[in-house]
Amino acid sequence: MKDKVRDDYERPVISLRISVTNRCNVNCIYCHHDGMLDSSSEMTPDEIYEICRIAKKLGVEKIRLSGGEPLVRGDIVEIVEKVNSLDFKDISITTNGIFLEKYAQDLVDAGLDRVNVSLDTLNPDTYKRIVGKSLLEKVKSGIIKSCEVGMYPVKVNMVVMNNINNDEIMDMFEFTKEHGVILQLIEIIESESCDDNDFNLKYHYKLDEFEKYLAEIADEIKVREFMQDRKKYFIDGGEIEVVHPVDNTNFCKNCTRLRITPEGKIKPCLLRNDNLVDLLGYIRDGASDEDLIDIFLKGIHNREPYYKEDN
Ligand code: GTP
Ligand code: 5AD
Repeated sequence: MKDKVRDDYERPVISLRISVTNRCNVNCIYCHHDGMLDSSSEMTPDEIYEICRIAKKLGVEKIRLSGGEPLVRGDIVEIVEKVNSLDFKDISITTNGIFLEKYAQDLVDAGLDRVNVSLDTLNPDTYKRIVGKSLLEKVKSGIIKSCEVGMYPVKVNMVVMNNINNDEIMDMFEFTKEHGVILQLIEIIESESCDDNDFNLKYHYKLDEFEKYLAEIADEIKVREFMQDRKKYFIDGGEIEVVHPVDNTNFCKNCTRLRITPEGKIKPCLLRNDNLVDLLGYIRDGASDEDLIDIFLKGIHNREPYYKEDN
């Protein structure tokens, strides 16, 4: 199959995001907690390889490993090594950064190109409040180490929350700029399973106003290829990227991602859980490549923009 596969809305599927575990070593206040799966039921490195191999046949170019927290898997380096043997354009990990200092060199040696590290604050008390543990310095060391071992670009994901960390954006920018890291500001997505029912009401921070300020101070503004809703602001030699997932028709219009859940199901949309398609069960039953491609195509057919212009 030569051309990139497209969904029913003509969106190409370029990036596959595989959640390799839903275990996590912290408990962030905004996390949607994807249920519990004990480690013995997780996809093996070979099964993850199989999923990527089929995805490659369908034109997928980029693999992102996520969680839970992917670095709690003792075999994460082996997973990267196996995926890397398929020669994708880009392999990345999204991590909370706690084990990053320990694994960064091995991950790069195994073929990892880059990491996105969740870090919402530089204030130790605020960090403890958001994440539940006092591990801020470990995360900072992990970010610095990732740069040292040659990952590029390294990004910091900052979920911006009203009255928690919205006043820290420029401090975070100074930190990321100093280390040659991109600061990615993320608008918080409502999380159904969050313990605090009023959370979104209290903490939702619309990034629009702040983006106007960024536009004023930026030396240059660019939009990302395939993701025209994601603006990149270049300021004093640093870079800020803004992600608006909420109520944004452009976020969906430009979506080129497909997800795999820790249970090995195809998840066609970040914001929905009701149209998943099992894949791992078929791999475990020894399905042929033809059948696996059909299952992928079914998942891709289920892709529908969550926010549409006529909504
Ligand atoms: P790169 O831009 O390639 O570095 O990846 P990313 O920023 O998309 O990945 P990351 O894992 O760091 O996630 C950051 C944000 O991307 C999330 O908070 C979401 O807003 C968005 N995102 C994550 N998963 C998906 C997905 O499955 N589909 C879409 N459309 N967006 C997603
Ligand atoms: N809203 C917005 N972003 C979130 N993330 C996790 N939960 C939420 C949420 N409720 C972000 C984290 C992580 C990235 C993959 O998604 O910053 O780095």
